[in-house]
Amino acid sequence: MSKVCINIAWPYSNGAIHLGHVAGSLLPPDIFSRYNRLIGNEVLMIGGSDQHGTPITVSAEKCGMTPEAYADKYHEINKKAIEDLGIEYSLFNKTHCPTHFEVVQKIFLDLREKGYIYTKETDQYYCPKCSRFLPDRYVEGVCPKCGNEKTRSDQCDACGTTFEPGDLENPYCTLCGSVPEIRPTEHFFLKLSAFRERLIDYVSDKDYWRPNVKTFTKNWLEEGLNDRAITRDMSWGVPIPVEGWDDKVIYVWFEAVIGYLSSSVEYSKMIGQPDYWERFWKDPEVRHYYFIGKDNIPFHSIIWPAILMGIGDMDLPYDIPANEYLMLGGGKLSKSRGGAIDVPSVLQKYDADVVRYYLSVNMPDTHDSEFSWEDFETKVNNELVAALGNYYHRCLSFTKKNFGTIPEAGAAGPSEEVMSAIGKSLQEYRDCLDVCDFKKGIKVVMELARFGNRYFDSVKPWALVKEDKDACGRVLNDNLTIVKALSVMAWPFMPKSSERIWGFLGFDGDLEGAGLDEALRPLPAGQELREPVPVYKKVEIPKEEETVEEKTEEKKQEQKDEPFAAFKKMDVRVGQVISVEDHPDAEKLYILKIDLGEEEPRQIVTNLKSYYTVDQMMNRKLLVISNLKPAKFRGVKSEGMLMAADDEPLGGSAVLLLKPSKDVPNGTKVNCGLENSSSRIEVKHCEAVKIKVARIAGGKFMGRDIDLPEGSPEVVAAVIDGDSTIVFGDGKGCVMTVESDIMDGADVV
Ligand code: MF3
Ligand code: ZN
Repeated sequence: MSKVCINIAWPYSNGAIHLGHVAGSLLPPDIFSRYNRLIGNEVLMIGGSDQHGTPITVSAEKCGMTPEAYADKYHEINKKAIEDLGIEYSLFNKTHCPTHFEVVQKIFLDLREKGYIYTKETDQYYCPKCSRFLPDRYVEGVCPKCGNEKTRSDQCDACGTTFEPGDLENPYCTLCGSVPEIRPTEHFFLKLSAFRERLIDYVSDKDYWRPNVKTFTKNWLEEGLNDRAITRDMSWGVPIPVEGWDDKVIYVWFEAVIGYLSSSVEYSKMIGQPDYWERFWKDPEVRHYYFIGKDNIPFHSIIWPAILMGIGDMDLPYDIPANEYLMLGGGKLSKSRGGAIDVPSVLQKYDADVVRYYLSVNMPDTHDSEFSWEDFETKVNNELVAALGNYYHRCLSFTKKNFGTIPEAGAAGPSEEVMSAIGKSLQEYRDCLDVCDFKKGIKVVMELARFGNRYFDSVKPWALVKEDKDACGRVLNDNLTIVKALSVMAWPFMPKSSERIWGFLGFDGDLEGAGLDEALRPLPAGQELREPVPVYKKVEIPKEEETVEEKTEEKKQEQKDEPFAAFKKMDVRVGQVISVEDHPDAEKLYILKIDLGEEEPRQIVTNLKSYYTVDQMMNRKLLVISNLKPAKFRGVKSEGMLMAADDEPLGGSAVLLLKPSKDVPNGTKVNCGLENSSSRIEVKHCEAVKIKVARIAGGKFMGRDIDLPEGSPEVVAAVIDGDSTIVFGDGKGCVMTVESDIMDGADVV
């Protein structure tokens, strides 16, 4: 029995984890951990939520929450999602916790004392308009290496390159859109250069690393190891344990990797054996695995080993099986760019094991893989249900019905054909799982299920039961032996359903305790079978319309306490009127054609005829809610709604169309820089959104605090939700206003 330490990349708690996280870095370690437990190894499996850094502050700011409340909210959501998926950590910790602070600060001081951390004046992005330094995600631009646009200033999602301030092309401040300056400021640096020799030596025997990990690491080492800034200009994070550094914190990447160690310490405290972690971190026999996505490679293959070397006498990573990306229609499945498929919603509709199966066979291990719901439906129905599920059920139900208990095997045990098929399959299976080739491992299991189906067909128990009941019992024993082997081998991939099969076979003890060798042991003849039910059901993916409307309870709740949730459902665009016609059957309506920057102009019917002449309408720039369900007005189709402010309820008489303060292109999104959805909505959704127009007085909007980009007009529209107020604009400096006088507080409808 050996000890294995399984370390899992810490997802940022800046949103619910999605299928990309699961396939990339969360499911593989759970399969590996279960496999190791099955062969009798002692496993410590750790990780948690990465709660610091600009990913959190940027998201928290967007929805008006404090970073802490925001990060804790998603920590809880993700912790539950992970449990519901059957992913069993020893401890799913979080980085905003006392033990983590303590361990990080201790290591920081230790490395500083050893001369591995020093201070240096350095250039940082600084926004003159916002009067602040702009770390990491507060600046975006074009990646100088691969040309990817909207690349964050610390790392490129597309090619993995990490940057220093100044590297990015065409940088802009993500808060206000202006071009940042570069200003000198003092920071702490990690002296990576001091570890060069040791790192080269360390990787020299890592021939077994995956090619992507090897290549990336080799290139980094060859391109020279630059010392790296490990502090940032912000207040959210682990404080620097040095006097006079209160306005900066430790860089999220420096401290998050230390989380592997701090959560091992936390776990040891939790189980009442404070030194337990040393058994895993200070015993050179223990293998450390790190399951991560490819954008995390250098932090795990270079920076973390360097930190560990700096501490001294610590186990270094043995393997870093980094996965590529799960792609959704050509883009990385990542919530930071939208298009996410979050775990809580997915589990509302599908069983965890079905999801685990699909992500196992479609794992992006050596190259990116494509995700689609159609493919999910095909693979689950045609493989999992048709081969494995069907085999389990036909064997168990036929035997239960005709025998009730496990029938006797032949005098020499189960047939040789069957035993050798299981033995061969088991060997292949071990060869795959030992080297973290899970995708091939699940294929081996499925092959054995297909063999089982063929075997069942060839021995025809349904005919035999009438001719020779004993012979029928013997072939059923053969088949149930395969069923048992399958349930054991499938367990790391699909634990819950495998345990149910184990139970149907009449076993009371736990499957994990029986161990992998159980796959080859004979069945206890005479053991009472339990009434089986199919463990996998066919899935049917909802049609598109339903996906839009169907919101889980959790989602609904989430939206209630997240400011601007209703607003984020609206897809508002800047448009320009290109034709105006009278409605043939309605005196008060115009039919407009509006250019929304799309291929075809949109037709929109409006009742503003009494307020705007044809000439006033023509060429006007205005705002369109573009994702409304099309409606008909007196037989004429309308594909959207215009946004206008109306002060009549306040006793006024103005109805004014909103318009952008700057000449932005048609089609420009007016989402306040928030991540919004373009799914179809109904008019009633818009009624939940509160947008008002008012004059800015004393820097306030109707007495409320508001952030305004420079050059904003005097009268602006703003979105209000509870205590939060944001100016209604594109998030990049263009805000919405009206042309003439209107009463403060006029509602936009
Ligand atoms: N939060 C990071 C990400 O999602 C991963 C951090 S892994 C750790 O990319 F090692 F730093 F913890
Ligand atoms: Zn700025």
